[in-house]
Amino acid sequence: MDSLTIRETFLRFYEERGAQRYSSAPLIPNDPGLLLTIAGMVPFKPYFLGDATPPNPRATSYQKCVRTNDIENVGRTTRHLSSFEMLGNFSFGDYFKREAIRWSYELSVEHFGLDPERIWVTIFETDDESEQLWLEETDIPLERIQRVGVPDGASRLDASDNFWSTGAAGPCGPCSELNYDRGPEWGQEGGPLVNGERYLEYYNLVFMQQEQDGDGKVLGDLPAKSVDTGLGLERMAVLLQDVPDVFATDLFTPLIAAAEELSGVRYGDDAERDVSLRVVAEHVRTSAMLIADGVLPSKEGRGYVLRRLLRRAVRHGQLLGLDLAGGTQLLVPMLDAVLQTNLQMYPELAKQRELVTRIAGAEERDFAARLRAGLDRVDRALEDVRAGDGATFPGDVTFELHDTFGFPVDLTAEIAEEAGLVLDRDRFEALMDEQRQRARAGAKKGGGGVPVEVYRQAADEVGPTEFLGYEQLTAEGTIGALVGPGGALEGASEGDSIEVVLGRTPFYAEGGGQVGDHGVIETETGRLRVVDTQPAIEGLQTHRVVVEAGEVRPGQAAHLVVDGERRVATARSHSATHILHATMKEVLGDHAQQAGSLVQPGRLRFDFPHFEPVSLEQLGEIERTINARVLRDPHVTTEVMSLDDARAAGAVANFGDKYGQVVRVVTIGEFSKELCGGTHVPSGATVGNIYLVREESIGSNTRRIEALTGADAYRYARHEMQVAEEVARLVDTPTTEAVARVQALLERLKAVDKELAKTRRASLSQDAKRLADEATREDGVAVVIARVDGVVGDDLRTLASEVRGHLATQGVVVLGAATEDGKAQLICALTSDLADAGVEARPILHPAAQVVGGGAGGRGDLAQAGGKNGSALDEALKVASAEARSAVRGGA
Ligand code: SER
Repeated sequence: MDSLTIRETFLRFYEERGAQRYSSAPLIPNDPGLLLTIAGMVPFKPYFLGDATPPNPRATSYQKCVRTNDIENVGRTTRHLSSFEMLGNFSFGDYFKREAIRWSYELSVEHFGLDPERIWVTIFETDDESEQLWLEETDIPLERIQRVGVPDGASRLDASDNFWSTGAAGPCGPCSELNYDRGPEWGQEGGPLVNGERYLEYYNLVFMQQEQDGDGKVLGDLPAKSVDTGLGLERMAVLLQDVPDVFATDLFTPLIAAAEELSGVRYGDDAERDVSLRVVAEHVRTSAMLIADGVLPSKEGRGYVLRRLLRRAVRHGQLLGLDLAGGTQLLVPMLDAVLQTNLQMYPELAKQRELVTRIAGAEERDFAARLRAGLDRVDRALEDVRAGDGATFPGDVTFELHDTFGFPVDLTAEIAEEAGLVLDRDRFEALMDEQRQRARAGAKKGGGGVPVEVYRQAADEVGPTEFLGYEQLTAEGTIGALVGPGGALEGASEGDSIEVVLGRTPFYAEGGGQVGDHGVIETETGRLRVVDTQPAIEGLQTHRVVVEAGEVRPGQAAHLVVDGERRVATARSHSATHILHATMKEVLGDHAQQAGSLVQPGRLRFDFPHFEPVSLEQLGEIERTINARVLRDPHVTTEVMSLDDARAAGAVANFGDKYGQVVRVVTIGEFSKELCGGTHVPSGATVGNIYLVREESIGSNTRRIEALTGADAYRYARHEMQVAEEVARLVDTPTTEAVARVQALLERLKAVDKELAKTRRASLSQDAKRLADEATREDGVAVVIARVDGVVGDDLRTLASEVRGHLATQGVVVLGAATEDGKAQLICALTSDLADAGVEARPILHPAAQVVGGGAGGRGDLAQAGGKNGSALDEALKVASAEARSAVRGGA
């Protein structure tokens, strides 16, 4: 059974049992606790927690997932993957263990055709109920049910223990896994507890019952008992295609073949090279998915996950004998294979082909160039280790490799392991910590500090927030709850900074890049200034306020007023952002997708992937087009529709956004259609002018444009105009001719400078001649000691060497000059024959330099000095004169 059929069989099975089908959500989750989407349940978290109501209590989905906790193992085993597809069925307070168990078995045996005699299950150590249900609902006998618990002393978060959570705050519960016996050729019998390779886990049923915090502490029961399951597509393909490992399934064979062709290495010939072929195939596949979903390589977070994968792939390409530093390409041609193989599975990859190949190509070039130097460093370190303890790869070198050569630590660990060494991770981590602390010093901490339970309690009392602000900027409402870091408050009075929860509100909470609203809340007894509005938990928003006067209590009627001017100025920027986004893609290409934005009153910031600076011509074209579009006053309409309809209408979804099944689509004119929850101008022309004021790089292949809108654009332009007018006044022409005039003036200035330099040179030459003529003699040596005020810097050096030139042989020159700001400069030059005879310039000058408060520096025949005290220059020259004469006598 091919992979697509496996997917379809699974989804249809659960659709027939009342589930709503969902396509894969992006890999960037809308969940601050999670770096990446690691399981099929991630997009459904709010449904499990009761923070949102699902349209249907039964769901089924296919979900691309990335997990990178043990990248080093990928390629070395037959089952580890950094990305995989999880097929899931979910119940949000609907069916529970009995149906989940029965259906998982029925699907396995009747639809996937697995041999019921070879299925083994595990259950949580105390879960008698599941054991009973397996016995009642299926043919699995007690001997093939194994209990798994938390090993003594282990943390629940680390242990693989049949109790499942994402590892972050969220829902959790005991689970029961289905495993398939692949036969005695896979080793020892005894079930999955004994041998995980032979008894391959393929389907996990989690009985979601509790909620935990980020440390794994159980907070309490979920509002309803739920089910979250995951069946690994790749593993099912192993079983149904009867192949030994995931790399032999239809998902990977074309990728291995592409890696073979590129490297000329045959898969199966050599165990170590097989590892490299698998690493390249696997990591390039995951990287393609990450980049297509908007992850870009970076120094931290999910961008670093991507970077580690790409760099490990590059290194294994090198191990396969490809000369990547010499310009041979690996990743880009591999990506072509990935795209071809996966297009049917993930059509979104096609749209981002350009982006994916360019980002990966750039990372390959960059790292391949550094890899060779880094490997040389590794070789030197290995020699040292062999000469030393012979067992430990040093943490300091690991850090250096990380910092200077861009080696992710797991790459170094892998290299160390290949050399039979253990990496000193503790030392490496300590050095990393020091570096982080240095970086962190000075960065300030934000955050309101209200714990999530407090919001949840407020949500229970007040209900989800109803947002009125698309239509109105003022409203009558009720103070739902007052909260602070310690919990709900009975009241607050003048000067207090607290948060307010309202059942209905016209205030927009920060989201989609748009900042939260400001304004005023008034009750009979008090007046609150709203300084920010933020999303608190799913469905609930919070108003950060300062009590300006009087006091306030929950339950009071309240008059709610949004700062309208600020809001309109923000709406201008938001609509401008959409217009800019559409235009950028037209001018720069489809890859110039919004990767982040900040929408503020009168100002916007737009981040996007791009591979070189946007040229002035392109910026000009973009700015002209967006302003022309605004002038045509395009219609701005918003509609609420299903996600499928929105996609069918061609609406653009942005990286990292998460959407429920019902979405809002904002359409501007004929050219822009985006999913967006933000607030917009009622008609296009209201945006006013848009000026692009800055374009810059904010990381590799990521750029940022900043623009001003509306009144801020006007003020900016007005100021620029004023500058132009002032310049024109200064050069006494109309502004239209100011540039030509300034240019002409600059040219004249240049000519005058040249003339001046010529004259100065001539006058220096004359001075030099005169000074040489006035030289006095000391034991046959010509000595010139002179004060030449105003001749400083280069001129002083030129003058000294010209005088010396005139003297030709047997000459000493000491010149001193006072500078305009009252300092002193001194120089001493000797003819070369004197220097050859052992006379040195520096000792001659040094005592004089001390007189003006400085010290002398220089080589044999030339020394220079400077000092603060120009008034002592005459004195200094006297000292120099005496030194010169005595040196000449001594030297000659
Ligand atoms: N969330 C569970 C897992 O990832 C079941 O889908 O294994």
